[in-house]
Amino acid sequence: MNWKLFPKVELHLHLEGAADPAFIRQLASEKSINISSIFDENGAYKFDGFNAFLDIYEIATQALKSPEDFKRLMQSVLENLAEHNVVYAETFISPDFCGGRDLGAWREYLMAMQEAHVEGVTLKGIVTCIRHLGPEIARGAALCAAETAGDWVVGFGMAGAENVGNAKDFSYAFDMAREAGLRLTSHAGEWCGAESVWETLKDLRVERIGHGVHSINDKELVEYLAEMEIALEVNPGSNVALGVYPSWRDHPIQRLRDAGVKVTVSTDDPPFFNTTMTREFEELEYAFGWGIEDFKLLNKTALDVAFCDVATKEIITKRLEAS
Ligand code: ADE
Ligand code: ZN
Repeated sequence: MNWKLFPKVELHLHLEGAADPAFIRQLASEKSINISSIFDENGAYKFDGFNAFLDIYEIATQALKSPEDFKRLMQSVLENLAEHNVVYAETFISPDFCGGRDLGAWREYLMAMQEAHVEGVTLKGIVTCIRHLGPEIARGAALCAAETAGDWVVGFGMAGAENVGNAKDFSYAFDMAREAGLRLTSHAGEWCGAESVWETLKDLRVERIGHGVHSINDKELVEYLAEMEIALEVNPGSNVALGVYPSWRDHPIQRLRDAGVKVTVSTDDPPFFNTTMTREFEELEYAFGWGIEDFKLLNKTALDVAFCDVATKEIITKRLEAS
């Protein structure tokens, strides 16, 4: 089966993390910024382990300065999504990288990003704070999110180093976003264990978990996720590339799904992990024998737990059914 042609729904995609290395190099050279240390001899992103990944990720974002840069990035990301027949995507966008959490600047970045357009791809934004920058800075990001909540900014979330601080340090930011009507997700159970997922559910009251794969080590948590219909934004290619699991066959996605947990599949930061949505599908077929019915169910689950409005879901459902 040629999975490239199969329609897809993707819920966990960091905008800056979706920037091709060549695109970042081009921007850096236009601005005479030297970030050559983050690339290997083939021009790919170079890192070893999670902390190094976060470091080079933040260095790469130094090439992204103006609203126009983000518009160009969004345009290229939409083109990549279209190439892999992703018909609906939610992308993490961060006021920390877009104007340093200044609300006026943030509005300009948002406007520019929304000017990008590719026929056939619907995209919504999830404003994301960065955990290792601390709770104060997260509040600034949440304020930007709350002030711009609407049809396009549909959610609020948290990425970054999961082992920094406690989830409850960020409750104020999440409360602010919730009160503005935003839907909530947070990275947890990617690098830290099941207790990090419990904490995130209790203190941030999110309805989806980014990654959440270490939940598999806690039977009670797996049952809770299934019963409460808390969806996991699983990124198997990212987990394998970063060494969270040694191989695709060792990845717990199948076991989580068998236990009744709502799993979805995304790419996280595709060029960093040498993946695409097509590759995720191919590897899932290879490792677990997933076929058309499994991927249809995957799309349905993802659309069910997507943060967009019902009218958008109906349009996307028709598109999925027509393909
Ligand atoms: N930011 C970008 N990718 C991330 C990941 N996989 N985990 C945490 N923060 C991130
Ligand atoms: Zn992520």
